[in-house]
Amino acid sequence: MTEHLVSPDGIARAAELLANGELVAIPTETVYGLAAVARDAVAVAKIFVAKGRPSDNPLIVHVADRDVTGIVASWPAVAVQLSNAFWPGPLTLVADRHADFPAAVSAGRSTVGVRCPSHPSARELLARTGPLAAPSANRSGRPSPTNAQHVFDDLDGRIEAVLDGGPCVDGLESTVVDVTVVPPMILRPGSITRAQLEQVVGEVSVHPSVLAPSETTDARAPGMRYRHYSPDAAVWLVEGEHAVARAARLVADEPSSHAVLVGGEPAARTTVFTDAGALGTGLYAVLRHLDAQGVERIVFAGIPFDATAVLNRVRKAASRVLP
Ligand code: TXA
Ligand code: MG
Repeated sequence: MTEHLVSPDGIARAAELLANGELVAIPTETVYGLAAVARDAVAVAKIFVAKGRPSDNPLIVHVADRDVTGIVASWPAVAVQLSNAFWPGPLTLVADRHADFPAAVSAGRSTVGVRCPSHPSARELLARTGPLAAPSANRSGRPSPTNAQHVFDDLDGRIEAVLDGGPCVDGLESTVVDVTVVPPMILRPGSITRAQLEQVVGEVSVHPSVLAPSETTDARAPGMRYRHYSPDAAVWLVEGEHAVARAARLVADEPSSHAVLVGGEPAARTTVFTDAGALGTGLYAVLRHLDAQGVERIVFAGIPFDATAVLNRVRKAASRVLP
């Protein structure tokens, strides 16, 4: 069975299991990650099996500090500037992979995604283990886990241990930026915004898949190709004029539906968030909770257009967008 280790006391045991080639779910400030020692190709392969992850979707390498020697082949000036500004924190930088760093981590690509998380337990663990490869610790296609219970719900019996570091403060996965292109390109939006990045390095572009409603085939953003972040319930997103009122009407006559609104009035079968930031932090927990309740349709509305990260997640989950 999967061990429940509680941080900080459980960190030493987590490090020992990882050193032995086992998989351990770890807390970060964004979402829980499913970690293996990055240079252990056999352990890394187990991540794909435990999650049911498509073998062509690369993993992120987590590091203890800004030292990326031996992981990347080159670290351009923008990478230095961005890592100085935002590490430790929720930013992943995609750079050319070092020839000696295992290709398995990047699903065979010539690039590698690297990030230094800010969660104190993750950092203490990384200081003991060295670089850890870790995707989000959910079964593939499920919402990412934002607490230890979510990880058990998805992976109990499939991994060696969960290091419980409490609920994740961010709740959405890191911003992913490709620094091999000029200007640097956002492949996945997160809590570090385009405006914040541009303050440090000037112009930053955004991959077209970021706000596309469904799947894309562009090879540069492999993670955006899959139907992600999906609960069992059908997800609808209402946009445009009077969206919140329209969503409220949609669920009012449908007992198996539930509305998730930013702003708006409290009502039956309705969860109201005060702003987009609160929705971002609570999104995955709400999706998992409503699935557990057996809700058949979740109707979102009121997400501001500039709340790119949370809008991206809901659009990717949505089977219908009502303009
Ligand atoms: O906040 C996070 O990033 C969390 C925590 C655990 O750190 N991790 C996470 O991992 O969200 P995952 O595997 O669920 O998402 C990684 C994303 C995917 O969209 C993947 O395609 C992209 O990063 N990615 C990783 N390496 C890449 C590369 N070399 N080139 C392009 N995209 C890459
Ligand atoms: Mg994921």
